[in-house]
Amino acid sequence: MYLQKRTRFFTPGMKELLDRNNIPQHIAIIMDGNGRWAQKKGAMRIFGHRNALAAVRDSIEICAEIGVKYLTLYAFSTENWSRPQDEINALMEILINSITDEVPTMMKNNIQLSSIGDIGSLPHSAQAKLKEAKTLTGKNTGLTVFLALSYSGRWEIENAIKEIVKKVVDGQISMDMINQQLIADHLNTKGVPDPELLIRTSGELRISNFLLWQLAYTELYFTELLWPDFRREHLLEAVLDYQRRERRFGKTTAQIKSKS
Ligand code: IPE
Ligand code: IPE
Ligand code: MG
Repeated sequence: MYLQKRTRFFTPGMKELLDRNNIPQHIAIIMDGNGRWAQKKGAMRIFGHRNALAAVRDSIEICAEIGVKYLTLYAFSTENWSRPQDEINALMEILINSITDEVPTMMKNNIQLSSIGDIGSLPHSAQAKLKEAKTLTGKNTGLTVFLALSYSGRWEIENAIKEIVKKVVDGQISMDMINQQLIADHLNTKGVPDPELLIRTSGELRISNFLLWQLAYTELYFTELLWPDFRREHLLEAVLDYQRRERRFGKTTAQIKSKS
């Protein structure tokens, strides 16, 4: 049962239940349900986006606290450019304001901000803000937060193919040098381990073009909570659920057990 209907438990000691030797290095989140959250309150969709920051902040904080190394947040997909222009403008404005507001806390907590996606397609003001935040937080060594902006898995794979083919044509590499490692090295996530855990809020059971290559063996966790309601305890609950799973990577249970 991978669709969590509601929070089953939360105690202040929840963090103590975690197996500290089995914390995911990389968590990815599809932050979904802002529009429905607002509509349930009789408000405009944009109201939901404006109320999403608490969830982002809580997720970043708890990931840093429990020792996650990378957190990738799907903030705006390639397909989201098809939304009404007013909503896109509001999302870009919220992005800029959120970065401004969050950078001081990131500095205090040794958190690095980075991004994946077609950053060049964002408005110049958003690009400039992102660049400034990346430079400021660039030397921080704790958690790295990747914002996926104008991102989609197919876009990323298409680019990787183009880059690789160009190198072959230019004679920099030969055909037989193309392998899975080389492909991974041409993705935006180069050097970052694949996410062990993907969380999607809002009850939708799909990937929506997120990290298609990297999610090959990721554990998927779906919750019906809408993103603005997502809090640190919900992220902890997802990690606890992850820790109860057996990751077999094609092997048998007996093989997994005999290793430990
Ligand atoms: C997620 O919430 C935020 C973005 C995709 C930018 P939505 O805006 O998709 O909210 P719903 O899914 O319509 O409720
Ligand atoms: C996925 O959410 C993209 C982000 C959360 C940024 P969408 O709301 O755009 O996905 P679909 O259209 O429901 O699949
Ligand atoms: Mg949505």
